[in-house]
Amino acid sequence: MTDQSKSFLTQLEAARTQDPAASAKAQMQLIGQWIAACPVEFFAELREKSPILPAPAFTLVTRFEDVRDVLTLNEIFTTDLLKQNMLKFIGNTVIELPPSPEYEQRKSILRLAFPMEDLGRYRQILLEESAALLASLKPETPFDLVGYAKKLPAAAIKRYLGLGELPVDKVVEWMHDINEGAVRNLANLPQLNQPAAAARAEVKPKIREILQRTKAKLPGGAPAPEPPFWERLFGTVQPQLKVEPPAEPNVLERYLMMQSVPTTYTADEDIVSSLLFMMSACVDLTATAIANVVIELMQRPEVLKDAIAAAHQDTDDEIAGYVWEALRFRQPSPGVINTCSQDYTLAQGTEFEQTVKAGTLVLACSISAMHDPSAIEAPTEFKLGRPRHLAYTFFESGLHTCHGKYFSMVQIPLAVKQLLRLGVPQAVDAFPISQGYPEQAFQIKIARS
Ligand code: HEM
Repeated sequence: MTDQSKSFLTQLEAARTQDPAASAKAQMQLIGQWIAACPVEFFAELREKSPILPAPAFTLVTRFEDVRDVLTLNEIFTTDLLKQNMLKFIGNTVIELPPSPEYEQRKSILRLAFPMEDLGRYRQILLEESAALLASLKPETPFDLVGYAKKLPAAAIKRYLGLGELPVDKVVEWMHDINEGAVRNLANLPQLNQPAAAARAEVKPKIREILQRTKAKLPGGAPAPEPPFWERLFGTVQPQLKVEPPAEPNVLERYLMMQSVPTTYTADEDIVSSLLFMMSACVDLTATAIANVVIELMQRPEVLKDAIAAAHQDTDDEIAGYVWEALRFRQPSPGVINTCSQDYTLAQGTEFEQTVKAGTLVLACSISAMHDPSAIEAPTEFKLGRPRHLAYTFFESGLHTCHGKYFSMVQIPLAVKQLLRLGVPQAVDAFPISQGYPEQAFQIKIARS
């Protein structure tokens, strides 16, 4: 149970009993509950009284400078923890690799297959998919915000990757199950592993099949058919029509075309894993971000009015300011979890200096860093125009900084903008308390503005 009138640290201490296992469980339950329901308040107390908190399952790092250290010292704070489950449920990707030639090789090819020059194309896909999803929405009629927030990124990313034929509802479901098993399963719980394994078993053969069909349509993909006997006999073999490469290749087609050059060759199975990872990295976090932003705006009616006015502007920049500030109060994830690979002293020279031991799991709480008054002016206020590199570090993780960062910076504001252009969203259901992945539908209605 949480008592908001008492200090969080006092409640954590009170959860300690004679039984170390029971204490650890009770304390981690409280921490999980506070991160989901009241992260801003919880982290404010930690930053002030215990900024590096060694909790039973991991150490929480909450001050801006220490979070920045953990996120950027990638040789010391590694993504090792992800390795086992990423390999099990997704396959080879970039995220589980330490700084290494292998990481650079895979990342370079990913950059060519999924390049930033496609931002305009992705924006166009988003406009089309959001129009299709919002077409049936009628004023004053309940509409599931969460359904929209989940389906839009799923529909857009699968199409962009070259996997458009996968059913959108299944993509939402599979990606959530895979993400839960691969990324959010610190304790390796069977109840998360089992749905992730089932989703992988369903989706991977489908991606493999699309890959083979796509390959056959590319230059050199299908072997030229044997000419008929009579054509061979009389030497009248017809020249084969030259297969042209696609004018606007998708990510899958780019990966396949790069197979013809040894330096950029990626094996079919690794292409399948990379596409699966892109989808899973995109869908859950983006869905949560879109829903969270709209919820935060709705809870501030004056800000919402201004955000709606911004949504009617021609460029996306105006609405983006509202989106990132709203997300600062309700992030899709509290931060990034890393493994400390060698003893390292954080907060050196301060009263909170602490050595984190090799092998410790560390949660770099970026949500907390984005509210740290030592770096962010008036952090509790909803203010536009904050410096992005300090206040909006949702995508940062040093070497592993999100490859979808600039796509997300188009996708999330555009999703919100298209909705706000229709009118004023009003809650039909009670506002969700928890800030995590929205498991439940959340009905809103659009009042005419
Ligand atoms: C189009 C959507 C997205 C794609 C394709 C995508 C893709 C990726 C990829 C490939 C990585 C690994 C980068 C590397 O290891 O070098 C990554 C990491 C990351 N992404 Fe994204 N992402 C997307 C959306 C998001 C969103 C919406 C957020 C949060 C608001 C986010 C937050 C992160 C973070 C924090 C990391 C670092 C994780 C770590 O170091 O453990 N991503 N993403």
